[in-house]
Amino acid sequence: MSAPTLPFPQSLAEKYRPRTIAEFVGLEKPKRILGRFAAQPYPSAWLFVGPSGVGKTSMAQALCIQIRGELHHIPSQKCTVEAIEKACHDCHYLPFAPGGFHVVLCDEADRMTPAAQLALLSKLDATAFPPNTVFIFTCNSTDGLARPSAACERLAEQRPRCTDETRSRATGRLRPLCVYC
Ligand SMILES: Nc1ncnc2c1ncn2[C@@H]1O[C@H](COP(=O)(O)OP(=O)(O)O)[C@@H](O)[C@H]1O
Ligand SMILES: [Mg+2]
Repeated sequence: MSAPTLPFPQSLAEKYRPRTIAEFVGLEKPKRILGRFAAQPYPSAWLFVGPSGVGKTSMAQALCIQIRGELHHIPSQKCTVEAIEKACHDCHYLPFAPGGFHVVLCDEADRMTPAAQLALLSKLDATAFPPNTVFIFTCNSTDGLARPSAACERLAEQRPRCTDETRSRATGRLRPLCVYC
């Protein structure tokens, strides 16, 4: 007789984590913006700014699922030059899902080293941007961005007023940035 198998213990937070954008409670503005984006995704970079626990990482994961993305998650404090190089290298392969996207999720981007931020600036440049890739950065505040892009400077100027989208003059391409607060 085989021993009974028990389901692997799962935290309630993980069990009830929203899996789609629509499942999030409240957050009407981010849901509206990201819902529109998920309907017609395109290579871009997003910045989710807001206090801890408001769902930035979960929203990025839900967005990834919704656009059939292949997730490359760089966790908090692990966003080094090597991690960025590896993620961007992997993004040059075709995504598993035909017509899908790579999603590079960098948590707590404000804690990145200056070297990692510089490496990212060059990756986000129009010439080096990996194909079929969506970058999502999360942070509690843009203050820790040692050399913020022009777009981030604009966001910082506009605080505490929220803005939905802005243009990144640093790259010359449309880079929607979602202020998530
Ligand atoms: N608006 C929301 N609706 C439903 N669950 C949420 C919401 N905001 C946060 N959560 C849940 O709270 C927990 C923490 O969210 P997380 O994405 O880690 O936050 P952050 O990355 O902003 O610190 C997760 O389990 C997430 O699913
Ligand atoms: Mg998080």
